[in-house]
Amino acid sequence: MTSQMIRELKYQKMKKFLRGRHGTMIDILLWLLWVNNVVDVPSVKSVKLIKDTIQRLCGIRSIPYEGALGHRYYVNSLPDIIQQEMMNPRVRPLLHFYPEDTGVELNEARQAKCWLEELDPELLTPVVRLHNQDFFVFEPALLLSGQACIPFQWFICGGKMCTKAWSLQPVTRELDCGWVVEDFHSFEVSEDDLLVSFRNWDSSEATSGLPRAYSIYGVEHELNGKLQPWTLTNPSEGNQWCVRASGARVYAMPLWLYCDDTSGNLSKKWNKHNSFLFTAAGLPRAEVHQEYNVHFLCTLNLAPPLEMLDGIVDQLEESWKQGIWAWDCVHEEYVLVIPSILALLVDNPMQSEMACHIGSMGKYFCRICKVKGHDATYTTDAPPKSTRKRAKETMEEMATRVKQFVKIGEPRHKDETIAELKSMFIHASTVRNQTQIKQRKTSTGIKDTFLDSFLNRLAESYCKIRGGNKAKQEALDRVKETLPENVISPVWRIKVLLGFVKYLWRDVVSVRIGKDKLKRELLETRLSSVDVSGLGLSHLAGHTLVQYAGSLVGRDFRAIAQVAPFVLHDLVPTECYDTWVALSNLIPLIWQPEIENSMEHLRNLTTSINNFLACTARSTPRWFNKPKFHVLLHVVDHIRRFGPAALFATEAFESFNAVIRAKSIHSNHRTPSRDIAHSFAHGSRICHILSGARILMHDNDTNDIHSDSPELIQASNPSSDKPPDAINVKVVGKGPLSLVQQPNIITDYLGLDTHADTKKYGHNFRTCKSMVLFNGDVCKIGDWVLIADGTAEQSPIVACIREIIQRQGLDADNLLRPDAILLERGSVGEPAASYSMPAVRAHGGFLLYPVEQILCAANLQHQCRVHKCTSLASDVEFVYEEQAKTSKAKAVIHHIGDPDDLVLNTARMQDAKHMQGLRVPIQPQDMNLAILEGAAREIWTRNDTTGGASTTSIIAAAHGPRAQGRQVNRSLQQHQSVLQVQ
Ligand SMILES: *[C@@H]1O[C@H](CO)[C@@H](O)[C@H](O)[C@H]1NC(C)=O
Ligand SMILES: *[C@@H]1O[C@H](CO)[C@@H](O)[C@H](O)[C@H]1NC(C)=O
Ligand SMILES: *[C@@H]1O[C@H](CO)[C@@H](O)[C@H](O)[C@H]1NC(C)=O
Repeated sequence: MTSQMIRELKYQKMKKFLRGRHGTMIDILLWLLWVNNVVDVPSVKSVKLIKDTIQRLCGIRSIPYEGALGHRYYVNSLPDIIQQEMMNPRVRPLLHFYPEDTGVELNEARQAKCWLEELDPELLTPVVRLHNQDFFVFEPALLLSGQACIPFQWFICGGKMCTKAWSLQPVTRELDCGWVVEDFHSFEVSEDDLLVSFRNWDSSEATSGLPRAYSIYGVEHELNGKLQPWTLTNPSEGNQWCVRASGARVYAMPLWLYCDDTSGNLSKKWNKHNSFLFTAAGLPRAEVHQEYNVHFLCTLNLAPPLEMLDGIVDQLEESWKQGIWAWDCVHEEYVLVIPSILALLVDNPMQSEMACHIGSMGKYFCRICKVKGHDATYTTDAPPKSTRKRAKETMEEMATRVKQFVKIGEPRHKDETIAELKSMFIHASTVRNQTQIKQRKTSTGIKDTFLDSFLNRLAESYCKIRGGNKAKQEALDRVKETLPENVISPVWRIKVLLGFVKYLWRDVVSVRIGKDKLKRELLETRLSSVDVSGLGLSHLAGHTLVQYAGSLVGRDFRAIAQVAPFVLHDLVPTECYDTWVALSNLIPLIWQPEIENSMEHLRNLTTSINNFLACTARSTPRWFNKPKFHVLLHVVDHIRRFGPAALFATEAFESFNAVIRAKSIHSNHRTPSRDIAHSFAHGSRICHILSGARILMHDNDTNDIHSDSPELIQASNPSSDKPPDAINVKVVGKGPLSLVQQPNIITDYLGLDTHADTKKYGHNFRTCKSMVLFNGDVCKIGDWVLIADGTAEQSPIVACIREIIQRQGLDADNLLRPDAILLERGSVGEPAASYSMPAVRAHGGFLLYPVEQILCAANLQHQCRVHKCTSLASDVEFVYEEQAKTSKAKAVIHHIGDPDDLVLNTARMQDAKHMQGLRVPIQPQDMNLAILEGAAREIWTRNDTTGGASTTSIIAAAHGPRAQGRQVNRSLQQHQSVLQVQ
């Protein structure tokens, strides 16, 4: 054949190949190989066969569910994913979740109060293996001292395993003797004190003369001397998990479950999908956010999240019955794993749905407590206007409402919420009660979309039921049973918390600055010119931030919060500016990821929050309808209970959305839930194998690859009561592993590239224009840094990098690190006027430091406000577009006066812990006074506008802050007497 003929043949084949079907990725890939004359290309059939075999060996099943509301959806098997994790040497050693009580540090979730005090100890650490014995919770154990006790809560303290334990007292009854549990008397036991476990009791000499371990008479409470029966275990069997594990190790695996709507603008076809994802909570903080550790459970565009949650809860409950048998690649043996959900991370509107609550629009808008909002609530995100058509609040009413707003109300309880829902059922059990239910929802703020559909169905079913109350009651009971037992405590996410920055920024741009062109341009120029070195941001796009103030995203608000005090001065009224200064003070504290002294940090955080709310109240009481402001009050308690807010900065989850969307595009959209689930299962198989994870094989498995039966055999039932049979444990060969040894497109695709840092290193050192600090910050000459000052007590030194010194001709290893850094020390002075941040000035003292001692980059700003820096027509910079200089010019800020007159920007969010000692302490404010002042200003503005003034802007800058202040004071005096009488 001529080559012409061959090409023609290939062309014909290709046409045939693609005709009448949607080419899948495999088809096209194989065809591409084939048409390029690659030899030995397998057939589509054999590729499918290999895929099926791998799926059976180490795959994740996608399990179909018929949702309670009639939607069909697929959930990837949670047990299968957990089995994979346990077999994967890349993650398995990191999975431990032992609650830790450091007393002061708060860096990871497991150090937070919630896990130690609020969760079922069996789900955290059911057993600890010490001195070759298994000490299960709720089983008697003997201490070195001869005292017997029942450990019930394991945790780490001072680097050792410790447990809380109830004391056991021997009691003789008639001829027998046994134990009484003194449940009021609990104490802490260190691992060193434990001598004999429940199971070794009878064979140990230490227990001779003591009652048998399994004879527990009962529990004695402190007040009434009566014995209550012991119910936590069957005393003769011991802990249920020990029985189920029959000697194997038992591990708890708490998870963060995450739910989000994956809406995006990628394609018109893409509509809102709700997805569930999870990560193991035992991973160290740095690992939790790696894409590699985020696992997909399910997605669907039609089903409400609660319906899908049902399927997930089904799987969880199933695994609680027997545990999940998994191969542990650390001990190379089967272990029993108990998964649980530590917390559900959801977005604000959805969170309300999850927490059975009506959402932020209700009168009682807070999901955590019962604080009451305005009777007429706002329904838009726009800054509220003063010209609403409703009865005007008097100043007293306003002040009272705002005072309530800034307090934490009575907390909501799960039981109460459920009781309320149940009572709605009772109402629904009678026809024509719908309006009543509606009223109840608004008056209590409890609503549940999932439940709503049941209520509706129930209402419909009544039309048909002829019988008396009994039949109705039966129908009611049936629905009651479907009610979820546990309302899982939702946790805020960073997006939600940034909500109030959004309101404030829009207020600045559209109200405070409004149509004033000069001010607008000045703000844009200031934003574009602001020095962002050390903030981990790229240059700010001033025009975008102002022009599109209404549609910015979290990243933008983070940036704004860190520079606002340096761009807003003289552009907004003083009270508004003060609010921004307070905000910049608060933001780094909220997201501080590592907390060294939690008590003091939370105290500081509380002060900072109160200060911000007081400033906001003084500025205008209008914001105090916005739940996002009220939510701040709960932040302290949340951090105490769940750990640093940065843990919930679920950016990895969010970037996962793009992955889900991409997979949806390859679906034919008829069964998106299944296609996407399969697609993730496929990715996880490859990832699993290429991570060098264990693959469990029966002897006959290997033959299957060559046999021709494509039938899919289900993996062994993970929640059976016995560990699966002995098997061959295999790891993938060197050939495939070599594919991922070096970072390449595959490692990138699979998220295996965890050593991203190495990419950063090595670039600039030879030229010594910049360097990478140990924390990853990149600094160049002229940038500022914080340096550890030897003694831990001292605040860090603020210094400017003058030279990066690097000897030539060293081996590659040393090239990664400069030899020394020449720094010019800055002297930290008094707080700079109005910024509430310390003034800093380079003072000419030079220091030579090794790079290890540099803690982090710092951000310093010129005191533009004092020096009245402006943008001059002559000062322009050429605009770069697509990395090429254009002829377009934009204005820049011209710094005048002393260029060394600087301020340390303590609003910097990264490494906030190093900044603590340098921050300017907050002067606590009188909240009531602030509220009164704000209310007075509001009333004054209102009277002023209704009195015929043409301007609709709020506390209009036109009046000037001082004139306004006088007015406010007068108004305040008038009203204060009224309030004092109350
Ligand atoms: C609504 O439900 C309540 C509670 O079951 C019942 O007492 C009442 O009669 C019902 N109202 C109507 C209009 O049926
Ligand atoms: C492998 O062999 C065992 C015992 O001979 C049998 O029970 C099992 O079903 C076989 N597995 C497969 C995948 O054929
Ligand atoms: C609390 O604030 C004070 C004053 O700003 C500061 O000195 C201290 O280091 C802070 N403590 C913590 C733990 O952040």
